[in-house]
Amino acid sequence: MSDLPARRWPWRGVIEEYREFLPVTDDTPVVTLLEGGTPLVPSRAIGPSLPGRLRLFFKYEGLNPTGSFKDRGMCMAISKAKEAGARITICASTGNTAASAAAYSAAAGMASVVMIPAGYVALGKLSQALAYGARTLAVEGNFDDCLRCVREICEAYPVALLNSLNPYRMDGQKTGAFEVCEALGRPPDFHALPVGNAGNITAYWWGYKHWYDAGLVASRPVMLGFQAAGAAPIVLGHPVEKPETCATAIRIGNPARWKDAVAAAEESGGLITSVTDEEILAAYSDLARLEGLFCEPASAAGVAGVRKLAREGYFGDSPATVVCTLTGHGLKDPDRAIALAPQPETVPADTDFIVDLLGLR
Ligand code: F0G
Repeated sequence: MSDLPARRWPWRGVIEEYREFLPVTDDTPVVTLLEGGTPLVPSRAIGPSLPGRLRLFFKYEGLNPTGSFKDRGMCMAISKAKEAGARITICASTGNTAASAAAYSAAAGMASVVMIPAGYVALGKLSQALAYGARTLAVEGNFDDCLRCVREICEAYPVALLNSLNPYRMDGQKTGAFEVCEALGRPPDFHALPVGNAGNITAYWWGYKHWYDAGLVASRPVMLGFQAAGAAPIVLGHPVEKPETCATAIRIGNPARWKDAVAAAEESGGLITSVTDEEILAAYSDLARLEGLFCEPASAAGVAGVRKLAREGYFGDSPATVVCTLTGHGLKDPDRAIALAPQPETVPADTDFIVDLLGLR
């Protein structure tokens, strides 16, 4: 569509690229690691294998500076916190928000505190929070406990809250929707995402609405959100006290953006439903092995969900463009990757032996 903004390289990060759509002024100090500008990769295997006439794309957010979509919102949240004079930042996190908050706080010269559920954060994310120098508190509790503490601290002390309750996080994450519109030349018919604290599905919907209301695009997608079956409060209609799933990023029992996510699904004519850990891990493996796209387990929930809906005939027979956001990089959770794949075979440094082993003769 010709009235979409013209892109030019090098990419300048989400604030400079989308300044006119974001609540920043000339006085806002832009703290960027040049996040955003991630590829929209057409599916070569999973999409064509589905019933119906779907054109499936993956928005590969693992290619952001800290390996997840969180960097879009963090760029905004930290820039605004710096503008307001904040010196200390804090967040509750299943890992990715912590990694991103730690990195952007470091870039901004601010002290960062991250609160994570002890024992339930993937190794890559933990290593990032530590490497970027965050004060890392492993809380004896789950994500919901961490978020409660963070809220209470921020109500009483001058510490900048970096969870998606922070509206600037939402503003930054809207840029994912802008990029999808630009890559396709129009919004997709459906947009599928994993749902944890429910910020990202909200932000994407707000992003699509923003451009629709501004007259830049002529349609809006149907929003499809997927929770893990063991951590599906929105689907069940009540908080889950002990959420459990292998997709630790979305192991959340009482999402902060619950109402907004439900509104996104309802206003767009979409839905929020659940997928099992088995379905998530099958999609996770297929993305890597059939598409060459390595994402973390939670990221595959959207793909698992689209696959499930397609098999149920949800998309019908008309052609439809479907985008799945792959929210985080596979390297975030190396333990899971190694546990699911065959182990490396140890061999002697002997060419003949290897040729025989591989059956090349
Ligand atoms: N995918 C990944 C890889 C995530 O890290 C998250 C959330 C989600 C999906 C769900 O997004 O919360 O906006 O609905 N991670 C948060 C964190 C909770 O602390 O890193 P959401």
